[in-house]
Amino acid sequence: MSEPIVLGIESTCDETAAAIVQGRTLRSNVVASSMNEHARYGGVIPEIASRAHAEAFVPCVSQALADAGLELADIDAIAVSAGPGLAGCLAVGVSGAKALAWASGKPIYGINHVIGHIAVTQLQFGPFPADTLALIVSGGHTSLLHVSDVARHVDVVGTTLDDAAGECFDKVARLLGFPYPGGPHIDRHAQRGNPKAIRVPQGLTQGRAGAAHPYDFSFSGVKTAVARWVEGEQAAGREIPVDDVCASLADSVASVLAKKAMHGCEQYGSNTLIVGGGFSANSQLRAKLLDYGERCGVDVRIPEIRLCTDNGAMVAMLGVNLVEAGVTPSAPDFAIDSAMP
Ligand code: KG4
Ligand code: ZN
Repeated sequence: MSEPIVLGIESTCDETAAAIVQGRTLRSNVVASSMNEHARYGGVIPEIASRAHAEAFVPCVSQALADAGLELADIDAIAVSAGPGLAGCLAVGVSGAKALAWASGKPIYGINHVIGHIAVTQLQFGPFPADTLALIVSGGHTSLLHVSDVARHVDVVGTTLDDAAGECFDKVARLLGFPYPGGPHIDRHAQRGNPKAIRVPQGLTQGRAGAAHPYDFSFSGVKTAVARWVEGEQAAGREIPVDDVCASLADSVASVLAKKAMHGCEQYGSNTLIVGGGFSANSQLRAKLLDYGERCGVDVRIPEIRLCTDNGAMVAMLGVNLVEAGVTPSAPDFAIDSAMP
């Protein structure tokens, strides 16, 4: 098989997505989001998201095939996110994908969504050099990973001990009165504020090699520190300098992510850092990573935003890697794993 054609299906959270990748070429990429339905609740409601997946599944897959000018019979394999994610959401996407595989007789791969965020960068930057590090940051995950072979072996170098970076932004955003998801609002306000206006702690930065958690992250204390400061100002009757609060928070979070990623690259002798997940849309993080990368001699690969957020292309690309590596497909009754490591 020269260039495998894989249909990728994604339904871990609030995006129903289907895409087709052939080799390293993205042939179609369809995303339907239920985000607007969750906005008034201040977070994703699993039940609403699951129903939305059930409605969007067939239209998304049909559109992905039509956009690529293909039929199900033309593809070589189906890949679907089997975790981590919301159980009800995963169940819809995985059941749909299993039905397609069963009806068409195609092999199916249940893949790890977080590794999909790493794999997708190949569509824009080509193959990984040996010893690549990956920083995957979103509303649900914040991890630093060492990629020796994306199809078979990825090690966790560090992870968040509490909140994910996007979750921290979303919680502070809620406090400041922004609608969900608040991350992009913080980003926008931060661009107009002074990043040194308020002292925001940098969680676990003391950890270089030798410390207890040299590459782990902690953002819950950061959120609490900002919340305390805002409450103190409100109690004193002072107006909240929203732009400055956002800029100080963004500077703290972006700095710690970029610093630890660079220390990780140094430790693993890696000259390449892959970045993915919805939070990598954050302008302060992008700027810090590119700046630190230039100073440390690390090639920082941050894909375009539509490939950073949840999508089917990431699943299809990892599926292609699995087919190319000759990995055995999943059993027809493979389970979802909402807490997949
Ligand atoms: O990967 P994603 O689309 O969904 C998952 O969480 O899996 O990431 C969404 C997260 C949310 O927390 C959102 O607030 C955050 O990414 N986000 C941002 C920005 N764009 C999205 N956070 C900060 N700045 C942004 N520009
Ligand atoms: Zn994700």
